[in-house]
Amino acid sequence: MKILMLAAECVPFAKTGGLADVVGALPVALRALGHEAIVVMPKYGSLDVARYNIGSFFDQMCVWMGNTEEWCAVRTTTLNGIPIYFIESDKYFARPGLYHDENFNDYGDNPRRFAFLTRAGLQLAHDMGFAPDIVHVHDWHTALAAAYLKIWHWNDPVLGKAASVLTIHNIGYQGKYGKEHYDYIGLQWSNFTPDKLEDHGAINFLKGGIQYADLVTTVSPTYADETRTPEYAHGLAPYLNDKGANYIGILNGVDYTQWNPATDKFIPAQYSAEDLSGKAVCKRELQKRFLLNVDPAIPIVGVVSRFAEQKGLDLLAGAIESIVNNMQVQFVILGAGDKGLESFYGGLPARYPGRIGSYIGYDNTLAHWIEAGSDFFIMPSRYEPCGLNQIYSLKYGTLPIVRNTGGLADTVEQYNEATGDGTGFKFWEPSAHAVYYTVGWAVSTYYDRQHHIAKMVQKAMAQNFSWENSAKAYVAAYRQAIANRE
Ligand code: ADP
Ligand code: GLC
Repeated sequence: MKILMLAAECVPFAKTGGLADVVGALPVALRALGHEAIVVMPKYGSLDVARYNIGSFFDQMCVWMGNTEEWCAVRTTTLNGIPIYFIESDKYFARPGLYHDENFNDYGDNPRRFAFLTRAGLQLAHDMGFAPDIVHVHDWHTALAAAYLKIWHWNDPVLGKAASVLTIHNIGYQGKYGKEHYDYIGLQWSNFTPDKLEDHGAINFLKGGIQYADLVTTVSPTYADETRTPEYAHGLAPYLNDKGANYIGILNGVDYTQWNPATDKFIPAQYSAEDLSGKAVCKRELQKRFLLNVDPAIPIVGVVSRFAEQKGLDLLAGAIESIVNNMQVQFVILGAGDKGLESFYGGLPARYPGRIGSYIGYDNTLAHWIEAGSDFFIMPSRYEPCGLNQIYSLKYGTLPIVRNTGGLADTVEQYNEATGDGTGFKFWEPSAHAVYYTVGWAVSTYYDRQHHIAKMVQKAMAQNFSWENSAKAYVAAYRQAIANRE
């Protein structure tokens, strides 16, 4: 099969979250199964052109938007055997941020930027004669490709046979914008109706994508179930339910070439399930790096996260001080986002010296250090479509403490105090209270039942969430989409 992937992020070129990890890894796994995938994404201002050997492809490409023509250039490189194409438009993508400025204010022209990216990606496939069987789009940014295909390209000699698959990585971000952008987006006013692209007077990119896509997926089976209910779907449950068997959950894989303690180049010492001595070195170095009391006997709880409502770090904020006041435990926190949480977590090391360390910002090396050096990894998410960090944690023998939602529910197995079975500690209630008691449960297990911890670490490290299985599930989904299209 030929697959055209359109996305706003892809590792290693541009990343704000797990979306980039998925777009970077899935095409490689598809290729290993004998399929041909290409990726189209923006050339952001932050892209390191020299480092990735990015050359020019088209000096000029004309893209018709609804009421105007836009011009851009296209650049390209190959990574892990996958051709990556970058849409170069100084007007839209030269600025440093992906979606927002340094104060986390969304760029006002985001609907135009991503409608343009989407249209340009299809135009590129057309101009280079790449006739995809599948156009696979991700999140609201490129969701409209499904609509463009049906409204504009149904008769196209190159794109006319393509079926569309939309993957929802996070239904909390839908791309809702004022209808003043609709002429530019160019999907005909006759389609600006509540059953298609209109949402309470606004344009809703994700809703439009859901309506037009031949198949919709999300990134875990539990999140697929949850988003069929009003509590989790942010208004879109009826439309997802309408898709019936054409809305499915496929668990993400993780890239073990990047996240494996036996080969990880970032961490102070490598280790494996057979020989965990390197993990002790990682713990000691982590304690030093974050100015914690250097003591192998005290458990460390790690956090690596965007500071967003979704992640529930306000719940941890409500519990962390009583936790460190009442338990012998240390915390290491890495994250950025919400300004209130940044100042709260940024201020904790000064108030709890030796017990809490934090770094406010984005730092991939530190993320690896925390996965390797911590004993536990906490994700108190209100919702979590898949979550990658808990899967990395398992591989690093760092037991996850998670709320039982979405992909967290699907990847972490609850500790059984009678047998020592399981891979982590789960709670259900989204409250500071539940966070407090579940961390307490993990910490007391650490001190009182070390043999259970050792057993869980072995089981966690033996889990396999590699991309191969997920890619096979996507291939089956692609076939279903093609059948629907026909
Ligand atoms: P989401 O995409 O919702 O943020 P995921 O768990 O799917 O959540 O993916 C998060 C990814 O981003 C992981 O690879 C994680 O290591 C990385 N990440 C998040 N915040 C930071 C940070 N502050 N520094 C480094 N890496 C981070
Ligand atoms: C989103 C979700 C996260 C998921 C990632 C990759 O960012 O918040 O749970 O792992 O997408 O699919």
